[in-house]
Amino acid sequence: MARYVAVAGKGGVGKTTFTALMLRQMIKQKQGISILAVDADPNANLNEALGLKVTATISDLLEETKNPKAVPTGMPKDIFVEYKLQQSLVESKDIDLLVMGGPQGPGCYCYPNDLLRKYLENLGNNYDFVAVDTEAGLEHISRRTIPHIDVMFVISDSSARGIRSAGRVHDLIRGIRAEVGEVYLVVTKTAGNTLESLADEIAHTGLKVIGDIPLDPLVVEQDLAGKALYDLPDEAVSVQAVEKIISRVGILK
Ligand SMILES: Nc1ncnc2c1ncn2[C@@H]1O[C@H](COP(=O)(O)OP(=O)(O)OP(=O)(O)O)[C@@H](O)[C@H]1O
Ligand SMILES: [Mg+2]
Repeated sequence: MARYVAVAGKGGVGKTTFTALMLRQMIKQKQGISILAVDADPNANLNEALGLKVTATISDLLEETKNPKAVPTGMPKDIFVEYKLQQSLVESKDIDLLVMGGPQGPGCYCYPNDLLRKYLENLGNNYDFVAVDTEAGLEHISRRTIPHIDVMFVISDSSARGIRSAGRVHDLIRGIRAEVGEVYLVVTKTAGNTLESLADEIAHTGLKVIGDIPLDPLVVEQDLAGKALYDLPDEAVSVQAVEKIISRVGILK
């Protein structure tokens, strides 16, 4: 069974950056590893960080299946929904990607969500890792469309508010998902003695800091130019920081 890794945290702290660099590192360190990346943020941009093109999101496709006329005559609806879900899988050499898409409109989505959960669970069996870039509101975690979480990275930027918010995200996740495995705090955009300055705030959260990612001019540059973070050079400080974090966690063992 795949190991599920989720990346959470409030808006703009560096979740997508961390997810993209984590995936880059996993592929670099372990040949032949199979990874499914799930972009669970309604404002999806993990694909850009990874340099992949997305044609359809799961939300779009599920919306289509709500129209009874869209279902071909004679095809059972669950088969149709599953067929649609398969269409949203972006396959590339290193990583496959699923994009959840925008918030769901009014009306009951229990049926497609149940199917989505089952589909993700089955699909996950085809991979060594499923990595989820979650949205700030944790909707897919609370709705349990993500079947389980073995390792969770809670991301905070270099501010006291960010750390407090990471603490709340942690409490929230523990409240809705008792079965979450290891949970680690990653502080991003650090400079100088940021970690020492934030030590008291961090201690209050009860979270274990697994590492920090320094403010990296190459990340800023790459984002400014609209280029994939996946293509950052090995020497980039952010890439090296994520490499350390991945080996500390021992995710690939
Ligand atoms: N280590 C870093 N060094 C410099 N800039 C960074 C770093 N990490 C993230 N950023 C910048 O911070 C901004 C937000 O990063 P990112 O998109 O990864 O955050 P996010 O948590 O995924 O945001 P959202 O909640 O909007 O999805 C981006 O402009 C990114 O370039
Ligand atoms: Mg993001």
